Amino acid sequence: MADIQDTPEVDADAIRAEFEAAVGRGGSDSGLAGNSKIAHVIGVVSGKGGVGKSFVTGVLATQLERAGKRVGIMDADITGPSIPRMFGLAGQQLRSDGTHIIPARTASGIPIVSANLMLENESDPVVWRGPMLAGTLEQFWGETLWGELDYLLIDMPPGTGDVALTVFQSLPVDGLVIVSSPQDLVQMVVGKAVKMAAMMEIPVLGLVENMSYAICGHCGEKVEVFGKSHVAETAAEYNLDVLGKMPIDPALADACDKGYIEDALPDDLLGDAVASILASAGSR
Ligand SMILES: Nc1ncnc2c1ncn2[C@@H]1O[C@H](COP(=O)(O)OP(=O)(O)OP(=O)(O)O)[C@@H](O)[C@H]1O
Ligand SMILES: [Mg+2]
Repeated sequence: MADIQDTPEVDADAIRAEFEAAVGRGGSDSGLAGNSKIAHVIGVVSGKGGVGKSFVTGVLATQLERAGKRVGIMDADITGPSIPRMFGLAGQQLRSDGTHIIPARTASGIPIVSANLMLENESDPVVWRGPMLAGTLEQFWGETLWGELDYLLIDMPPGTGDVALTVFQSLPVDGLVIVSSPQDLVQMVVGKAVKMAAMMEIPVLGLVENMSYAICGHCGEKVEVFGKSHVAETAAEYNLDVLGKMPIDPALADACDKGYIEDALPDDLLGDAVASILASAGSR
């Protein structure tokens, strides 16, 4: 066995500098392809899967676009086809000019990159391992012709695993929106996301609760399908703002399935979350 003194010392700063030079941390407009410039990068995260994080990303992107902002989406939730599908891009493929990735565009012009737009069939699983996923996300950042964007929203993979860590370490994420649903363990699950954000020194803009309630189609009553919401207590415990509560809306579920979320979205949905994103950008 080698003597411990023979082991070369790990120069963490040098490794980090090399990594950052490759992927462009240190300024949101550095390391991007062509003349691309991205003013603000917002990650949409959740402590666990299945809470509708991709849906929230799609809603926020659509509302920011309606507010006159130039917004793009990087789909880092590699395993699910949600983002391309809700914008009617299912079955499309990303194109390339030989050097760069050309993003797909939604009906209202939002540029989107997603590993699901690299598959031959939408139903093929993405079976890549961690390093390949990380490499793909770095390419999505640095080799895509994004153009000039006010906001890039990143739909993060659920949880606090490998891929989420890579995104936080390698992309200049300015702020996070945490998505939860009103189920048991929400406090703990949100806590995981909050702690990860703190470890990575990324500010949390606030908490969005999805599937908070449904409106009865017959009597108009608000029904708390998953039980009473604990979002206020959870937000208080972690000192977060509640940015909105979204109802379960079957018409929107249908619009997501059929790919026309941009047409179907009511104007006021997640207005506070959009205002918070706009305000956080103004304060920097
Ligand atoms: N509040 C809602 N009202 C109606 N439909 C919703 C709502 N939230 C989610 N959905 C539907 O559920 C589908 C799945 O949601 P989504 O893809 O966002 O979840 P997810 O990707 O499983 O979440 P996560 O990324 O946290 O695992 C969406 O395409 C949408 O059709
Ligand atoms: Mg998702």
